[in-house]
Amino acid sequence: MEALKGIRILDMTHVQAGPTCSQLLAWLGADVIKLEPPIGDATRGQLRDVPNADSLYFTMLNCNKRSITVNMKSPEGKAVFVELLKISDIIMENFGPGVLDRFGFPWEKIHEINPRVVMGSIKGFGSSGPYSDFKAYENVAQAMGGSMSTTGALDGPPYVTGAQIGDSGTGLHLAIGLLAALRQRDRTGEGQYVEVAMMDGVMNLCRVKWRDHQRLTRQELSEYSVPTQGLTATPRAGNDSGGGQLGNAVKCKPGGPNDYIYVVVQEAVWEALANRIGPHVGQPDLATDPRFAKIADRRKNQSEVWRLLDEFGSNYTKREMMVVLNELDVPCGPIMSTEDLANDEHVRGRDMYVELDHPQRGKWYNIGMPIKLSASPAKIERSPTLGEHTDEILKEVLGMSDAEIAAKREAGAFSNPPKVAKP
Ligand SMILES: CC(C)(COP(=O)(O)OP(=O)(O)OC[C@H]1O[C@@H](n2cnc3c(N)ncnc32)[C@H](O)[C@@H]1OP(=O)(O)O)[C@@H](O)C(=O)NCCC(=O)NCCS
Repeated sequence: MEALKGIRILDMTHVQAGPTCSQLLAWLGADVIKLEPPIGDATRGQLRDVPNADSLYFTMLNCNKRSITVNMKSPEGKAVFVELLKISDIIMENFGPGVLDRFGFPWEKIHEINPRVVMGSIKGFGSSGPYSDFKAYENVAQAMGGSMSTTGALDGPPYVTGAQIGDSGTGLHLAIGLLAALRQRDRTGEGQYVEVAMMDGVMNLCRVKWRDHQRLTRQELSEYSVPTQGLTATPRAGNDSGGGQLGNAVKCKPGGPNDYIYVVVQEAVWEALANRIGPHVGQPDLATDPRFAKIADRRKNQSEVWRLLDEFGSNYTKREMMVVLNELDVPCGPIMSTEDLANDEHVRGRDMYVELDHPQRGKWYNIGMPIKLSASPAKIERSPTLGEHTDEILKEVLGMSDAEIAAKREAGAFSNPPKVAKP
C-alpha cells in the first residue's frame, strides 16, 4: 500500500516550486487534487514543443494528480473550494504575495473552515520582513540566497546552477514540513501553517558556503584554488570541491564540452593514485614527491595536481577514466550530459528516466521518483489534461449530482465569465 494512501491534498500550486512538492507527495500515494484557474496552470502553455498539447514543463511536474478547474473569483467557485477544503488533509499554494487574501482565504480563515487541515505555502521571501511583498522565480532565489555569488569562476560573472535549487529545492523543503505537520496533526487533531521561503531554502542548500564565510575571519581557505586572503565574503571557486578533500574536473579525450571527469583526490587514495598516474606523466616517484606528500602540500600545489591529472586523463575517455579510478577506489564521476543520462543503463535500471504516454502528446519521458520506499514503490502516471477530473471529483469526492454540477457550471464556478464587449 502507498505510504500516503488516504491523504487528500488540495493543490493550488503552479509553475515549478509547488508542483514539484505535490508531485512527490502524489508519488508517495496521496490523492492530489490540482485546483487550477479556468485557463489552467500557466506552464501548460509555456515552452510548448507539440502544438495544442500540454508542455513538458507542465507534464513533468504534475504526474499522478487529478485536475479540476475552479474560478476562485466567482462566489460559486469559492463555494466549491470551501467544500473541497473541508475534506482535505493538506492545502498548498505558491501564489504571489497576497493572492489568497484577495480570494478571501487567508490562513486564519482556512484554519477556521477546517481546523485539521495543514497548509503549505511557498513564497519568494516568506510572509515577514522587508522583501515579503516581492515575487520570485528560480534564479531570483539563487541570486538572493547566496548561490550565484559563490558559483562560477573568480574572475568571471556570477552563475546560476542547472539544478533548480530555488524551485524544486524549496518544494523538497515544503514536503518535509508538510509531513511533519501532518504527523503532529495526527497526534493533536490541529493543523498548522507551514511556510518555506525560496531564499531561505537556497541559503540552507548553501550551508557550507556559510562555513567558509565564517572561517574567512580567522584563516585563509587553503583548500580553495583561488586566493582568499583579505576576503570578507566566500568567493566563487570554479570546480573546487568545497569540502575537506581536494577535488576538480579533469579533462578527458576526445576533448568535447562534457569530456571531463570530476575527481576527488581523497587523502586515503593519494598514494595509489600517484603510483598509477606517476609513470604515465614522467614522474614515477610522484607518491613520495615532497610537493604532494601531505594533504596540506597537495592543497598548496593543487594546480600541479590538476595539471598532472589532465595529462593522464587525456589518454582516456571519461568512461574509461571512471573504470581506471574506481579500480583504485578513487571517488569520481564523469560529467554526464542529458544525452548520456537518457541512455544510461544505471539510470534506466533505477527507473529514473520513465517512459509515459499522453493523450495530447504521445510518448514522453519523466524523471522518476528519487525516493525509494521498499514496501511502497512509486507508480508513475501521466499528468492530467486541464479540468480532466472536474466532474469525477465533484461526484466522487463531494457527492454532487449531475443536476447540481450543471447548475454550478451554468453559474460560472468552473470557467471565466465571458468577456462582455465594451459599448
Ligand atoms: C511565480 C510567481 C512570480 C508568478 O506570478 P504571477 O503569474 O503574477 O502569479 P500570482 O501568483 O501572483 O497571481 C496569480 C493570479 O491568478 C489568479 N488565480 C490563480 N488561481 C485562480 C483561480 N483558481 N481562479 C481565479 N483566479 C485565479 C490569482 O487571483 C492572481 O490574480 P490577481 O493578481 O488578480 O489576484 C508568483 O506566483 C510568486 O511569486 N509565487 C511565490 C514564489 C514562487 O513559488 N515562485 C516560483 C515559481 S516556480
